[in-house]
Amino acid sequence: TNMMRVAVIGGEGIGPEVTAQASRVLAWFSERRRLPVEVAEAEFGLEAYRRTGKVIPPETRAAIEGADAILFGATGGPETAEVPPEARREGSLLKLRRSLDLYANLRPIVTDPALYDSAPLKERVLNGVDFVIVRELSSGIYFGEPRGIESRPDGSRRGFNTNSYTSEEIRRVARFAFELARSRRGRLCSVDKANVMEASVLWREEVIALHADEFPDIKLSHMYVDNAAMQIVRAPSQFDVMVTDNIFGDILSDCAAMAAGSLGMLPSASLGPADAQGRRTALYEPVHGSAPDIAGRGIANPLGSILSVAMMLRLTLGRPDDAILLERAVGDALAHGARTADIAEPGRAPVSTAAMGDAVLASLDRLAG
Ligand code: NAD
Ligand code: IPM
Ligand code: MN
Repeated sequence: TNMMRVAVIGGEGIGPEVTAQASRVLAWFSERRRLPVEVAEAEFGLEAYRRTGKVIPPETRAAIEGADAILFGATGGPETAEVPPEARREGSLLKLRRSLDLYANLRPIVTDPALYDSAPLKERVLNGVDFVIVRELSSGIYFGEPRGIESRPDGSRRGFNTNSYTSEEIRRVARFAFELARSRRGRLCSVDKANVMEASVLWREEVIALHADEFPDIKLSHMYVDNAAMQIVRAPSQFDVMVTDNIFGDILSDCAAMAAGSLGMLPSASLGPADAQGRRTALYEPVHGSAPDIAGRGIANPLGSILSVAMMLRLTLGRPDDAILLERAVGDALAHGARTADIAEPGRAPVSTAAMGDAVLASLDRLAG
């Protein structure tokens, strides 16, 4: 059959809470839109470690290997200190991204007028914001060698990391971003720190060469990352597609989340290389983390995770119309006043994580007729 398999991994903190709502949405598409999808829940993180001695138990690895897509929640938090460093390194989200070669991380940022009051930016700044950060996810300073903490003869210590990019690592993520720009408004902004770092000098050279070789129709610009952070706050509507390295993309996407009203709103897709049939290994997750400050209270915003399902519908499951339907349902739920605490309206009681899931499902029922 053409049954697609999705591995659902809630993880830690608010991860399982938001992912439960995204799973209900996925089930709605399976039941109501005949989406041929088989969902397998898998353990990851502290609970898995306590039960099996591994952060990623063998069953979870098997579920990941057999999956067409992974829906991930979040990882991290104070209690995870009880997991010894070796087990954590072995079983980390970073290791998973690296081992699956998920080099292209798409983080779209759109504004909805219903959430303008939640954003700390002015209405005229929020109008027309619709851009995608393409973050390189499998290399850079996150993974470069040498790295470590060393003791020095004078008794002091030195912590060090290496920011490293090969030309091929730069070209493949830049190619992905150029192609994305071609399917959108035809503009690409490459963000680097080429005035200081050699890895960025090479980044810029490779992007310029690729532009000349393969994408002369795309309007390419370059920006230093410090200016880019300022421009995202000053005038985010200037961007169409932004491509940047691993650490800059991490920081700029949390910054850009403020245009969307809350970090809890942002979805993401992390994609590996395409095979001969054009299929890519894919992991979908909200941009936010485990949010230990609100975990366990049922108040987290599940929309970043739910919108990650929309990205999955579009990019892995071959259902662009259903992706649009889900994005419209999220807009409809917000328009009807459903608000978790992070996007609450003054003077109105916020709803729970589950009630936000209910609201999206009700909107799906309404829009699907
Ligand atoms: P965080 O993203 O977990 O939280 C930052 C702030 O945003 C917190 O105040 C939190 O309450 C709020 N927030 C985040 N998501 C929200 C949601 N869905 N609804 C409402 N509010 C939300 O970042 P942090 O506090 O710096 O990190 C906490 C832990 O999460 C750390 O261990 C970090 O390493 C980890 N982390 C994991 C991921 C991931 O799994 N992909 C991403 C970021 C951080
Ligand atoms: C993210 C997170 C991760 C990152 C952490 C949890 C390692 O912040 O996905 O944005 O830095 O990539
Ligand atoms: Mn981050």
